[in-house]
Amino acid sequence: MQKYTFPVTRTTHPKARPTDESTLGFCNYFTDHMFMMDYDEGQGWHDGRVVPNEPIPIDPASCVLHYAQMMFEGMKAYRRPDGQIQIFRPDMNAKRMERTAERMVIPTVPEDILVSGIEAVLKEDADWMPRTSGTSMYIRPFIFGNEISFSALPAKHYTFIILLAPTGSYYGTTSGKLSAARIYVQDKYIRAAKGGTGFAKVGGNYGGAMRASEDAKKYNCKDVLWLDAAEHKYVEEIGTSNAFFRINDEVITAPLDSGTILPGITRDSVIQLLKHWGMKISERKLSIDELLAAAKDGSLKEIFASGTAAVISPIGCLNVKGTDYQVADGQAGEVAMKLYNTLYGIQTGVVEDFMGWTYPLDVYAK
Ligand SMILES: Cc1ncc(COP(=O)(O)O)c(C=O)c1O
Repeated sequence: MQKYTFPVTRTTHPKARPTDESTLGFCNYFTDHMFMMDYDEGQGWHDGRVVPNEPIPIDPASCVLHYAQMMFEGMKAYRRPDGQIQIFRPDMNAKRMERTAERMVIPTVPEDILVSGIEAVLKEDADWMPRTSGTSMYIRPFIFGNEISFSALPAKHYTFIILLAPTGSYYGTTSGKLSAARIYVQDKYIRAAKGGTGFAKVGGNYGGAMRASEDAKKYNCKDVLWLDAAEHKYVEEIGTSNAFFRINDEVITAPLDSGTILPGITRDSVIQLLKHWGMKISERKLSIDELLAAAKDGSLKEIFASGTAAVISPIGCLNVKGTDYQVADGQAGEVAMKLYNTLYGIQTGVVEDFMGWTYPLDVYAK
């Protein structure tokens, strides 16, 4: 991979570092600097630089504010026991960026610029790297059309930014076990339809999903289990995560061929680990009827969601139109726990990286 170096403008107003890592939460704090780069038609990507993380001027008529021609990624940097900072499968994020960019008619950022940009800004903000168990540095690369235009055509100028946010442990794992969430089975709204943008990481998918997530709270549920758009019959994703269901000894997840599922990097890692452990993993359609029947007859052993933010999130209960269906004993299952411990262990360098997934950066936490 080619390495790029970029000029740095340091902030003259460093922020106070969060002192209590137990209250970091998810992206409640952003570091002092960010990476920025511009794209102009005919010139390509140019002027990569590290600059203070502060508000940027944007014209009210800028196309992204009206037609949402934007895309983003989500990844994390982890502190190894020796202090070196590493990222996880960045090639997969770069490939997903490429697919999203193609769908959104946005010029993609190649992997070596993505990784060099992350490294450059992490170097400046290495002292922001949290150290307690369960914490990490969330990385948010995003690109948006930045041009005064109401023409609903692809922009000719784009801005690429990478933000860093020290992030806390997603779960209270005081008992050593992940906590299990309640999830509402969504039968009214849909997240993504065939031919749409479900497989791409674009803001519109998330804005359009907020009504459903908000309504789920009425049932004391953390988020929703999405069903397919055409028939409202097959399970797809859980909130902003991929979904896995263990019925007896078969672990099932929705296939990617419909184009409605975001191809999660954690999802792919879970599939590879389960295969490595000799478990039965099927990428197949699973109907809500089959799932609820399995919940009733006791063959449904586990449900869990996978994603960069929380790694693995066990689901203890499904709510269907107000009726609860408990998943096994309602607690985190053994496969979910093993996956969490292995994945987070590999990511933080505590478990040997037997899959070759980690990418150590030339940056050491302070
Ligand atoms: C809709 C959706 N599904 C699944 C995922 C999980 O993807 P990843 O494992 O790459 O974080 C995400 C992102 O976090 C997402 O937004």
